[in-house]
Amino acid sequence: MDFKRHLTKNPVVVAPMAGISNKAFRLLAQEMGAGLVYTEMISDKGLKYGSVRTRRMTEILPEEENVVLQLFGADEEALAYATEYVDKHTRAVAIDLNLGCPVPKVVKNNGGVSLMRHPEQVGRLISLMCERTDLPITVKMRSGWDEANKNAVEIARVSEAAGVSLIAVHGRTRTQMYRGEVDLDIIRAVKEAVEVPVLANGDVKTPEDALDMMDVTGCDGVMVGRALLGNPWLIRQCNDYLCYGRYDESPSVEERVEMAKRHAALLAKHYGERRAALEMRSQAPWYLKGLPDSSQARKALSRADSRETMSAILDDYLSRMKTAP
Ligand SMILES: Cc1cc2nc3c(=O)[nH]c(=O)nc-3n(C[C@H](O)[C@H](O)[C@H](O)COP(=O)(O)O)c2cc1C
Repeated sequence: MDFKRHLTKNPVVVAPMAGISNKAFRLLAQEMGAGLVYTEMISDKGLKYGSVRTRRMTEILPEEENVVLQLFGADEEALAYATEYVDKHTRAVAIDLNLGCPVPKVVKNNGGVSLMRHPEQVGRLISLMCERTDLPITVKMRSGWDEANKNAVEIARVSEAAGVSLIAVHGRTRTQMYRGEVDLDIIRAVKEAVEVPVLANGDVKTPEDALDMMDVTGCDGVMVGRALLGNPWLIRQCNDYLCYGRYDESPSVEERVEMAKRHAALLAKHYGERRAALEMRSQAPWYLKGLPDSSQARKALSRADSRETMSAILDDYLSRMKTAP
């Protein structure tokens, strides 16, 4: 895939989110016009050791397009195996190496953002991945480990030299986790240091944020994560604003309720009713976030034990809103 060309028309990319970026979430994102949609991070060792659960995470539906499958790990043998596995068995358009995950379980095993402290190893792992597949290899990194070690530019250069085709940068350090300011300067510095396209990531919540991010960093696209929870429409709004300078209003309460039900139906179709009910406990409340008098409904949704219960709570909220003075 020619990422640079593709991103000119489709500059809004959906970030990988563990526990969220499954087939259902990805399909909704695709419908909203996402340029690329990342899977959640998938363990190289899980694939190497034949974990059924991990293998299922790599499944990409025939109707899905432009899915980037993200791997995490730092073990050469496991990563080589996982790269070949993804190449042979999935419909991914690219394979991403996670250089940004800050959670202790991953960092302890030298994966995720921990790799940013070892540039030569990053280069070796990427070269290895490139040897094992003809699919493009991409990386997603943070600005660095901590304030004193913001080496995103060095890691980007090493990654490009080793053969990556696209780089995403979340402008926070590991120590910042998900708090504090996103460093737009370092994202811009990465963009200026490499030839391959760069995606800017961190705290894009509105179409205006997306435009600002593009203007300030000069990047080829924006990557959006948390703001899409309960709000997949933001993808279309950002895309329209970046490409045409205008965007449609936010969705109505009816549309939000319908989308929550569709999200649940897609989860049920692809993962079964039980998992759909469990996942919607955390997903459904987001669809009512910020709506008037919704706190009780959101609380009830977070405890709903079936899709029917969830739908009844949503319908009840909708009818209350319709009859509200
Ligand atoms: C629940 C959750 C799970 C995440 N999982 C991943 C992951 O699997 N791989 C990854 O590279 N980043 C992951 N991230 C980081 C996001 O991709 C993104 O970089 C970060 O949330 C900042 O973007 P945002 O402000 O638009 O959310 C995760 C973030 C959240 C909130």
